[in-house]
Amino acid sequence: MSTVCPEPAPADGRGVQEELVMRAEADPLLPRFHFTPPAGWMNDPNGLLQRDGLHHLFYQYNPLGPAHHRIHWGHAVSRDLLSWMDLPIALSPARTGEGPDEDGCWSGVAVVDDGHPTIVYSANRGGRQTAALAVAADAADPLLVEWEKDPRNPVIADPPGELPVTDFRDHCVWQEPDGSWTQLMGAGTTDRGGAVVRYTSSDLRNWTYCGPILVGSDWRAAPEDPWTATMWECPDLIALPPSGPDGRADGAGGSARHALIFSAWHQGHPQETLAFVGDYSEGRFHPARLQRVDWGGRFCYAPQSYLDEAGRRIQFGWMPEARDERGVARAGWCGVMTVPRLLSAHDGALAVEPVPELARLRERHESIPPGAVDGARPASSICGGGLDIELELSLDMCGYAEVVLVHGGGVAGRGERTVIRVERGAQSCVVRVDPSHASHEPGVEARAVTMPVRTSGDADDPVRLRVLLDRSVLEVFSDWRAVSARIYPADPESTRVVLAGERAQLSVGSVWTMRSTRRAGRRLRP
Ligand code: FRU
Repeated sequence: MSTVCPEPAPADGRGVQEELVMRAEADPLLPRFHFTPPAGWMNDPNGLLQRDGLHHLFYQYNPLGPAHHRIHWGHAVSRDLLSWMDLPIALSPARTGEGPDEDGCWSGVAVVDDGHPTIVYSANRGGRQTAALAVAADAADPLLVEWEKDPRNPVIADPPGELPVTDFRDHCVWQEPDGSWTQLMGAGTTDRGGAVVRYTSSDLRNWTYCGPILVGSDWRAAPEDPWTATMWECPDLIALPPSGPDGRADGAGGSARHALIFSAWHQGHPQETLAFVGDYSEGRFHPARLQRVDWGGRFCYAPQSYLDEAGRRIQFGWMPEARDERGVARAGWCGVMTVPRLLSAHDGALAVEPVPELARLRERHESIPPGAVDGARPASSICGGGLDIELELSLDMCGYAEVVLVHGGGVAGRGERTVIRVERGAQSCVVRVDPSHASHEPGVEARAVTMPVRTSGDADDPVRLRVLLDRSVLEVFSDWRAVSARIYPADPESTRVVLAGERAQLSVGSVWTMRSTRRAGRRLRP
């Protein structure tokens, strides 16, 4: 994690803090249906848990300003995964000299230990991370507002001596059928790439090191495989849920296949989120294939998943900013969560799609008339910064279709625009997301990315595309795959949708405006 020092904290705090929230809420690029912090900095989702119907979302938070510094755990809850209520900060760094987390409470997870919700997180001091615990002060409080750090922290003080470890942090913890606990931690090594190491415990406090479940150099990479980098952050080992219309993890399937999701990191630079798919048995992960979890590179990073009370595996990821430090400082906020995503298995791969709940945010609707897509035409008269677009397209050989998000009321080809293109080549079909003309602002990182989509190769096999636009946030889904991107048009509310293409047929098309779930007047320290 690269750290940027924020401006000095104000002596009294209060006025400046309110000003920060006002600045964030005045930013026309602040999303309206994706979760953001009240203002300031946010990175990874943490401690995801559903209990008594309430979804808990904790997150890496700096309420002092929009920079990564002395990280706290922010906390919000939701009944429907759509609207969130802010709760008091759950964890704050210790005062200097008073704890292993005096420089930050870094990422971690929540488990329930014999009825007691317990957080396992990385305590950061002097650039070193150790494993620490905090327990809900009142297990009967449905909001889990107050957390008490364990006086025995850190519970794992050093990385394993067996490996040449460079970095060591982040946790994945579960209870075995016999009641014992297993903990995985992410690591980097000097010469063997990233690693995930394993510990066991009977009480979450005394841990025994059991060796790595997988090390980067164990994997024989094919030329087309992405680089797994030198450190694996935020490991998340899951049983691959069977695919199904509602993605429920119970029911048919029950196969022994697993996915080991991790965030590939190299010398302070988040690369992308990857997953090994294979089998986890007897403390070792046996990878069969490596895949991307999102094709947007670092724009969906450090995701975490949990089983909700209906047995669905839900994932949130962190979408960092693509504007430069000056742009971020002006905005007063930094970082947004992806929409909640449902994980399942499809064709032996980890599959991703938005949770169905999102459809409840749809408001005004227009259908796009089906037929040949030839040239460019407005797809609908709908105009707005929050849109949900669904298309089903059939493409002839070398045919293409484009969803052009025209920002600022201009015409396609001029002004600010974002292009999502589906293209059929001789061998394959790809979705290309191009944000490089979405903003005339200097200092914005914008790079087109291409995601292959699996189709039968038959022109009758339609490509389904789902585009979620929320001011500066863009998530594109197709074929159980995702691309995350950030865009910064000057006038996001004036976005219109143009459909362009050649040798393409539209069979189904819809555009909806999306309802805002944003509350006004949030407090930095609720
Ligand atoms: C991932 C990460 C984690 C770390 C946290 C610090 O983005 O670097 O490895 O625990 O963020 O905020």
